[in-house]
Amino acid sequence: MESSKILNVTNDVKWVGVLDYDIVTFDIVMETKSGTTYNSYLIESDDIAIIDTVKEKFSDEFLAKIEKITPYERIKYIIVNHTEPDHSGALKNLLRKAPHAIVVGTSTALKYLDDMVDVPFKKLTVKEDDIISLGKKTLKFIMAPNLHWPDSMYTYLIEDKILFTCDSFGAHFCHEGMFEHLVPSWDEEFKYYFDVILKPYSQYMLKAIEKIKNLEINALCTGHGPILTNSPKKYIELTEQYAKEYLNSLKHDNLTVLIVYVSAYGYTAKFANAIAESIKEENLKVIIKDIEKTDLGEMESLIVQSDAILIGSPTINQNTLLPIYKFLAVINPIRDKNKPASVFGSYGWSGEAVKIISAALKELKLNVVKNEGIQAKFNSSNLSSFKEFGKNFADYIKQHYKNFQFSRANEKQE
Ligand code: FEO
Repeated sequence: MESSKILNVTNDVKWVGVLDYDIVTFDIVMETKSGTTYNSYLIESDDIAIIDTVKEKFSDEFLAKIEKITPYERIKYIIVNHTEPDHSGALKNLLRKAPHAIVVGTSTALKYLDDMVDVPFKKLTVKEDDIISLGKKTLKFIMAPNLHWPDSMYTYLIEDKILFTCDSFGAHFCHEGMFEHLVPSWDEEFKYYFDVILKPYSQYMLKAIEKIKNLEINALCTGHGPILTNSPKKYIELTEQYAKEYLNSLKHDNLTVLIVYVSAYGYTAKFANAIAESIKEENLKVIIKDIEKTDLGEMESLIVQSDAILIGSPTINQNTLLPIYKFLAVINPIRDKNKPASVFGSYGWSGEAVKIISAALKELKLNVVKNEGIQAKFNSSNLSSFKEFGKNFADYIKQHYKNFQFSRANEKQE
């Protein structure tokens, strides 16, 4: 697609977003092998509204598209459904061209923008069911917090029955066809996007879906990936299914300890298995995983399924190893704060890995139970200390969760 191409969603709603084929990782931690798009939309009416912008580095391309359609003076509103810079990065450059435009968002979004946008701007806070008239067209706002920041909302164009959802129902998938019937299958990318971006917020996703369930929707205009004009309901239902499956997976009837490790010569693996065995003997559930080749989405999924985490690593070159750093990168201190954790490993002559990981876990606000963790030189055949470590960790977990009433999933949905 030529970079200047504008697409008609309807006669009055135009896609003025950009394609990013080259992005390799999103937010640094999410692999984006299929690229992504930053979708922005322009609504033509007596007044013009722009829904979301694009990543800052694409500002020129974005502004050139707007200039092809309208003089900036006609833009009355810029709707910010979500302030993450992949959607609001170009806002300041748009505001320089259209300083009279009123930026519309949730109170949280506007507060974030005060810190993100270094030009003064007019603002309008909207709440649930608030309405803005553009003349012949009307926008209604639906609060959708935590999808995927606390600031997020949806915008519904009443006359055209189009719902603008930013991150929700999106996918990191880049194809010039842009409409769902003009692109190859992106099912895998849709699921992966849900898993990494939205899954941790499944309870909020279900609340948002409840709000839009009875809405007539001709198109879902997402913030990333294809525009869903053929079967928007299908993608809402699919998302609902994924969110419910995830929340059901949290309803486990036993405390779960996640043991992740990497092992160059099998020593750390042996320690991991000894620890796992003793924890199982204490009647706790154990998920044990060599994460050398585990992708980030799966790592995150393992973390959210667990009540406690043990990390095992050899020390190589006075350091831990890349898969462990990746695992640390997907720990979310807001979500995982106070989760009990500890560290184990093997070493040859120095043994820094356990200390490095332990320090990182503390910084990430986990509850590091055994401050020094446990480690042994090379292929220690004495596994009793690891078994004892496992037993003590299990005892701690049971004490820590002594009021555990098998209701973790319900707590998370509150
Ligand atoms: Fe696409 Fe949360 O930004």
